[in-house]
Amino acid sequence: MFGYEPYKILGALLFTLLLLTMLRVGGNAMLIPEKLVENAYVPLSVTEDYSTDEGEGEEDDEGTAQNESEGKAAAKASREGAPQIAVLLAAADAGAGKKLAKKCAACHSFEQGGKNKIGPVLWNIVGAEKGKHEGFTYSEALVEKGGAWTYGDLDAFLSAPKAYVPGTKMLFPGFKKPQDRANLILYLHSLSDKPPPLP
Ligand code: HEC
Repeated sequence: MFGYEPYKILGALLFTLLLLTMLRVGGNAMLIPEKLVENAYVPLSVTEDYSTDEGEGEEDDEGTAQNESEGKAAAKASREGAPQIAVLLAAADAGAGKKLAKKCAACHSFEQGGKNKIGPVLWNIVGAEKGKHEGFTYSEALVEKGGAWTYGDLDAFLSAPKAYVPGTKMLFPGFKKPQDRANLILYLHSLSDKPPPLP
């Protein structure tokens, strides 16, 4: 009457166990080991402050660096780990930025004359004064930050909003990848009748 039924059930259980074990082993393999044998990040030999807007300092250790081919410089810079927004913008892709901007759309409208949502309208944001979009109630923290949204400030804000403006109402973790931020900022830059000059 029972036939093979109990064996089938047992088989299914064993298979599930095997699968779980494989997942655990596989999962562990994906984690970074706790201690690296050597530093994966090789510090640059230059002493410049990366947060400045000068775009030339970091290429000193490459013999051929002084040429104007921005794309190559950007690729090189991003491999070096501390690229500057000007360099990254030169190699940025506004189309990719537009896709990333979908993550903002829950809270922001990008349209001229759009409506403020949870966050203010972002049309014309590059170069605009911080915390000044009409009809939006900003956090005190952002208003006090003040000044214009320069490329560097946007980059800092979008990498970690809460770190750049402690107390901001913008609940968004930020983008870790510098090139993602540059793509997004290039897209924001396009949202204007009169886009301000790129750095
Ligand atoms: C969960 C909602 C939310 C998401 C998602 C979000 N924002 Fe915001 N954003 C806000 C709020 C709220 C503020 C106002 C912050 C304040 O007053 O402190 C803001 C403010 C800003 C400002 C400053 C505007 C000004 O007028 O000074 C910029 C720039 C901005 N957001 C960009 C973005 C971008 C780009 C994204 C997508 C990557 C994004 N935000 C995602 C809610 C959000």
